[in-house]
Amino acid sequence: MTYVAPNSVQARDIASIVHPQTNLVTHMTEGPLVIGSGQGCFVTDDSGKEYLDAAAGLWCASLGYASERLARVAYEQMRKLGYYHLYRGTTNDNSVDLAEKLLSIAPVPMSKVLFQCSGSEANDTAIKLVWYYHAAIGKPGKRKIIGRKMGYHGSTGTSISASGKADMHADFGLPYPGFFHTEYPHYYREHHEGESEEQYSTRLAAAFEDMILREGPDTVGAFIGEPVMGAGGGLPPPRTYWDKMQAVIRKYHLLFIADEVICGFGRTGNMWGSQTYDLQPDMISCAKALSAGMQPISATLINQRVFEAMLDESRKLGNFAHGFTYAGHPVTTAVAMETLRIYDEMDMIGHVQRVGPYMQEALGRLIDHPLVGEVRGIGMIVGIELVADKETRALFDPARKVGATVDKYAREHGLICRLIGDRVAFSPPLIITEAEVDQVAARLKLALDDTWAEVRGH
Ligand SMILES: Cc1ncc(COP(=O)(O)O)c(C=O)c1O
Repeated sequence: MTYVAPNSVQARDIASIVHPQTNLVTHMTEGPLVIGSGQGCFVTDDSGKEYLDAAAGLWCASLGYASERLARVAYEQMRKLGYYHLYRGTTNDNSVDLAEKLLSIAPVPMSKVLFQCSGSEANDTAIKLVWYYHAAIGKPGKRKIIGRKMGYHGSTGTSISASGKADMHADFGLPYPGFFHTEYPHYYREHHEGESEEQYSTRLAAAFEDMILREGPDTVGAFIGEPVMGAGGGLPPPRTYWDKMQAVIRKYHLLFIADEVICGFGRTGNMWGSQTYDLQPDMISCAKALSAGMQPISATLINQRVFEAMLDESRKLGNFAHGFTYAGHPVTTAVAMETLRIYDEMDMIGHVQRVGPYMQEALGRLIDHPLVGEVRGIGMIVGIELVADKETRALFDPARKVGATVDKYAREHGLICRLIGDRVAFSPPLIITEAEVDQVAARLKLALDDTWAEVRGH
C-alpha cells in the first residue's frame, strides 16, 4: 500500500478518474504515477524522477515529449481557425494538404482519405466500409470480419470485436456476432517440435482458410491485421506468413484492412509495415506517429475499388451517412502535416534503419539472461519473451506475475517498457539515439537481474 497524501494529485485522481487498462481496486490504494513533463525520450514524475520511456507512451510519441515547432504550428492554427469540420462538403487547407501527402506516400495506390481522432475510430470506419462496400456490390451477406487472436485494433465496440483480446471482451458481452479470430502468429511459443517458421506459416494460413470455409466464403467480408502485432507482444510475423495469408485473402475475395496504427510512419524501418512485408491492403488505418502523438488524429486510406462502391451508394442513397465532429480538425491536421515534414527533414526512416539494428543487437544480447527465451524484433520494435524454462519454452505460471515484477523493477531503474503478460515490448520514440538504446539495455538488464533474484528466492 502506497501512502497517498490527502488533497495530493494522487488523491484527487483516485477520487475522480477511471483509468483505462487499470485495476480499479488496486488503483484505489496505490494511486497513479503522475507524469509532469517530458523532453526527448525522457519523462519526469512529480517527485522529479526521470524515466527513459522505451514505449513512446503508447507507441506514439515518435518525436519525444516536447516540441516547440509543433506547439507553434498548433498555436498559429488556433489563432487563425481553431475548429472546423468536413461535413456537407466543407473543407480546410490543412486537411487537403494532409490527405494529399498521405496518398502520395501510401504503400499501394490509394484513392481517398477519411479522418478520425483515434486508431479505434479508423478501424471502426474501415469495418463499416467493408459492410457498405459489399452491400454496394450486391453481396450484402459478406459481413463477417476475421481478425487474429491477440490482435488489437481498438476499444470501440466494433474495433475491440475485431481484436482477439479475451480479457477486453470479458463481461462486455463482446465480440459482437460476426467477428472471428484466427491463429496468433507466435512462432516461438506455438510451433511444434521440429516445425520451421515456413511450415508454421503454412499451418496458420491453412487454419485461416479452414475458418473461411467453415463460416462460408460468401459470408466473410474482410480480414484485418497489424503488419507487426503491437499489443500482441511487439511480435513480428514468422517468415512467409504474410505471403501465405494474403494468398488466402485473395482466393476468397476478402477485403484486407492493414492496421498500421503502430507500424505506420517508420516504426518497422520503412514508412509502412505494409512495405516491410509486401502487403497489398484495400484499406489502411493509421494514427499515433501520424501526429507524433501530439494531437488526436487518425486516417483511413481506401483504394479506388472501395471508393467506387461508395459513389454507387451516394447515387442510391444521396448521402455518405458517416462522420465525426473532429474529423479533419484544422489543428490536428496542421500538426500531423508538420510532423510528416519533420520526418522528411530529419530522414526519420534512415534514422530507424541505422538505430533499429543497433537496438535489435543491444537488446538481442539479453538472450543469454536466464529469464529470456526469445528476443525478436524489427525496426524499432522488440519483443522479449520471459520463460520459466529455456529448453522447453515453458512459460511461468501467470499467478507469479513475473512480467509485472520486471515492470516494477524497470520503473525503479528509470525505464518504462510495455508488459503484455510475460512478454516485454519495446517501441521507443523513433528519435532515440544509440547511447539511449544502451541505457535501455542496461536498465532492463538490472530489472531482469532483480526479477531473477526474486524468482529464484521463491
Ligand atoms: C494496432 C492498433 N490499432 C488500433 C489501436 C487503437 O488506437 P486508439 O487507442 O488510438 O483508439 C491501437 C492502440 O494501441 C493499436 O495498437
